[in-house]
Amino acid sequence: MPPLEIHPLSGHLGAEIAGVDLARLDDDGFAEIHRAFLDHAVLVFRDQKLEHPDQLAFAKRFGEPEVHPIAIGMESWPEIIKVWKPAGERASFGTSWHSDNSFFETPSLASILYGVTLPPYGGDTLWVSTETAWDTLSAGMKEIVDGLQAVHGASRAYDPAVTGEAKYRGEAAINYRLSDAIDEEVVHPVVRTHPETGRKGIFVNPMFTLRIVGLHEDESDALLRFLYRHTTRPEFSCRLQWKPGTVAIWDNRCTQHYAIDDYEGFDRLMYRVTVKGDRPR
Ligand code: SIN
Repeated sequence: MPPLEIHPLSGHLGAEIAGVDLARLDDDGFAEIHRAFLDHAVLVFRDQKLEHPDQLAFAKRFGEPEVHPIAIGMESWPEIIKVWKPAGERASFGTSWHSDNSFFETPSLASILYGVTLPPYGGDTLWVSTETAWDTLSAGMKEIVDGLQAVHGASRAYDPAVTGEAKYRGEAAINYRLSDAIDEEVVHPVVRTHPETGRKGIFVNPMFTLRIVGLHEDESDALLRFLYRHTTRPEFSCRLQWKPGTVAIWDNRCTQHYAIDDYEGFDRLMYRVTVKGDRPR
């Protein structure tokens, strides 16, 4: 296979890869994609045609596809979440900054999102590099946050009292199951080291991080607010305008993302698979 054609999307992360058919990937092709994944953290492939088994097979190249404990997967493909927002639907998915499933004991390594029906404009996804965010902290702030631990949980994102009961009654486009996972809490380091590249990154996000261990509530809130604002600076971001057939894969160990909900009156249909990660260190 010739070397990949890589077109960076921004100064710090993201690249569009041309000339690859993900449904027909051989081992050499995957090795190149894996290298690009570690280098760029977000990879975009256009004009793909992925049946559900193809998307799962691509995910399995990276590791074990997960079944989400709260957002219900498709009946015959429990590892695939249909990210479906038809015109008129109010409930949305992924519309604040997060890394996928940071409330798991082993948060997701990667997410693979395949765009099928997209609005003519809007519905873009943003990512930021949490490693650039770490690299650009002052030495003094690095000393303060490195070594701290934070509590993550799904209650803010999925509590039926907050998110609306309709999702749990099967009346929304994406449905959820009431599960103990909503109230479970897990502790992760505020700064994690990427297990494959050795780079450090900030690992707290406004969707799933609940508080910093050992700080008063107002201290924790103030520090988290600062870290969220710093991590999501536009300079650390890239942006994807989806088209039907676009596939994005991202590394949740060193990025956060945000789905922009600005396409009222249009349908948006994507299929998402996440891959099991390791315990952050
Ligand atoms: C997600 O948060 O995984 C979904 C992102 C998107 O729909 O753009």
